[in-house]
Amino acid sequence: MFRSHHCGALRETHIGTEVTLAGWAAKVRDKGFVLWIDLRDRYGITQLVLDEERCSAALLEKARKIGRETVIQVKGTVVAREAKNPNMETGNIELLLTELKVLNEAQTPPFTIEDKTDGGEDLRMKYRYLDIRRTPVQNNLLFRSKVGLLVRNYLAEQAFIEVETPYLIKSTPEGARDFVVPSRMNEGQFYALPQSPQTFKQLLMVGGMDKYFQIVKCFRDEDLRADRQPEFTQIDCELSFVHQQDIMACFEGLLSHLLKEIHGISPAPFPVMRYEDAMKTYGNDKPDIRFGMTFTELNAQAQNKGFTVFDAQELVVGIAVPGAANWSRKQIDKWIDWVKRPQIGANGLIWVKCNEDGTFKSSVDKFFDAEALASWATACEAKAGDLILVMAGETNKTRTQLSALRMALAEALELRKPNEFAPLWVVDFPLFEEDEESGDLHAMHHPFTAPKPEHLSLLESDPKAVVAQAYDLVLNGNEIGGGSIRIHDRSTQEKMLSLLGFSDDEAKAQFGFLMDAFTYGAPPHGGIALGFDRLVAILDGKETIRDYIAFPKNNSGRDVMIDAPAPLDTEQLDALALIVKPKPE
Ligand code: AMO
Repeated sequence: MFRSHHCGALRETHIGTEVTLAGWAAKVRDKGFVLWIDLRDRYGITQLVLDEERCSAALLEKARKIGRETVIQVKGTVVAREAKNPNMETGNIELLLTELKVLNEAQTPPFTIEDKTDGGEDLRMKYRYLDIRRTPVQNNLLFRSKVGLLVRNYLAEQAFIEVETPYLIKSTPEGARDFVVPSRMNEGQFYALPQSPQTFKQLLMVGGMDKYFQIVKCFRDEDLRADRQPEFTQIDCELSFVHQQDIMACFEGLLSHLLKEIHGISPAPFPVMRYEDAMKTYGNDKPDIRFGMTFTELNAQAQNKGFTVFDAQELVVGIAVPGAANWSRKQIDKWIDWVKRPQIGANGLIWVKCNEDGTFKSSVDKFFDAEALASWATACEAKAGDLILVMAGETNKTRTQLSALRMALAEALELRKPNEFAPLWVVDFPLFEEDEESGDLHAMHHPFTAPKPEHLSLLESDPKAVVAQAYDLVLNGNEIGGGSIRIHDRSTQEKMLSLLGFSDDEAKAQFGFLMDAFTYGAPPHGGIALGFDRLVAILDGKETIRDYIAFPKNNSGRDVMIDAPAPLDTEQLDALALIVKPKPE
């Protein structure tokens, strides 16, 4: 037997037992006559003890040579600890060694393998296997595994079947660039890695699979952020003979199940918000509804009152920051500078202090009297002690800017509580969004999303007004999933592609297989995909998905551990019939 117990297993009940353990020497403390080693494995830490009285000189000598992270196997007797450690599960016992075998030496690691490490991000990414030895990283991976299992079991119980779809495919448009793979056997031709299994899962419905799921890797060549990786995992699902409400009920069930199993929370039925309302009230289609500071449009109260800065603008909109009326000018100016940064790009902020004594003080006192400011406060539902911040400008831009400010303020005021969970459905998205510069239409979700049946005729006359049968699942201000009822007839799909600017030939070349399939008895169907990495991070009260991925990419899309991507040698390039142009001098 390699080991009789794990390093987290031994308790006082084991005192007197002979055991064998194996693991890494996390820490060695040598007091001369007595020596302790913290032995670590995935399950915990057990303190090993050797002393001159009870151990042989040879054994002590051997133990003294053990360096940090050496892999060892030890035999010994479980004994009670003199100085107990209530912070450790095994803190009441230690193992008095009788044998010690070095299984593998270790170089001194480039950073400390402890909960709070001295290693910076870059170094930990380069030696990710050492980082994975640290408890916080291990816990994240264990948590991910647990969530995955809960999801699989839940979906299996709901009669979903797991089907694998291919990775070497043709482009599936989800709005990002494709990663492509050259084909050696088909010179000059390329596969695309799936941005999602969208078309395949629809074909599975045509194939009569009825309820499909897959926990699947997706690949998108897009700029990275805390909640984005170039390869990430989806819980991808598709169902036949369903309405939008059926799919929403099913996945509300899944998320409720996870919240109950993981946090013991039974959330109320998830609120459902229309896209238009989300944009108007939060300036954002994935609002964090754990806190207020909702938008109030103040055009009626603030325009044509002699303050020309407001008068010419499309939108004047404010939020009430709770309890911030006592902020100093310096504090307010800090936020004014914050919104003026190029990343936000606002012109500035107008502020109104709703003082505790019922008076108002504002940056526009010259233009608005107390009565006018009181009307702003009433509209914004600002209470005594609140600070109203107002922005003005072009509608969409101003909403985006104020939304960024709302989120940053909530972060600063610690209103985004990690252990509070506020799920939300956002529905009634427009089917298309318009490119501001070119005027071209793009699919807001993807080109396979069905319009609301009553809007079908608008496809011809007023496509921008068409509302989609699409829905996003939002959790704590993060889009954790999105889906739709699909188009399942050839003519609507053709119309959709033509509105998106595909010629007949292009549409046939790219999606002919799907449109052909629609002519062989495609059932009405729809589905959803949840971002698994995001879901896991948020359920654990965090937002950086990299911490929940065993081997993530850095911000430049690199795996610095294996040093990828990397150039190919000439032989490989030749075999793939690829020519790499030398960079201009
Ligand atoms: P969508 O593009 O909205 O829909 O993706 C679904 C969910 O996947 C997550 N996600 C990501 N997570 C990490 N890194 C990324 N780069 C990334 N991109 C997306 C998000 C998102 O909500 N085929 C459709 C689904 C459908 O219609 O059924 C799709 O992929 O949480």
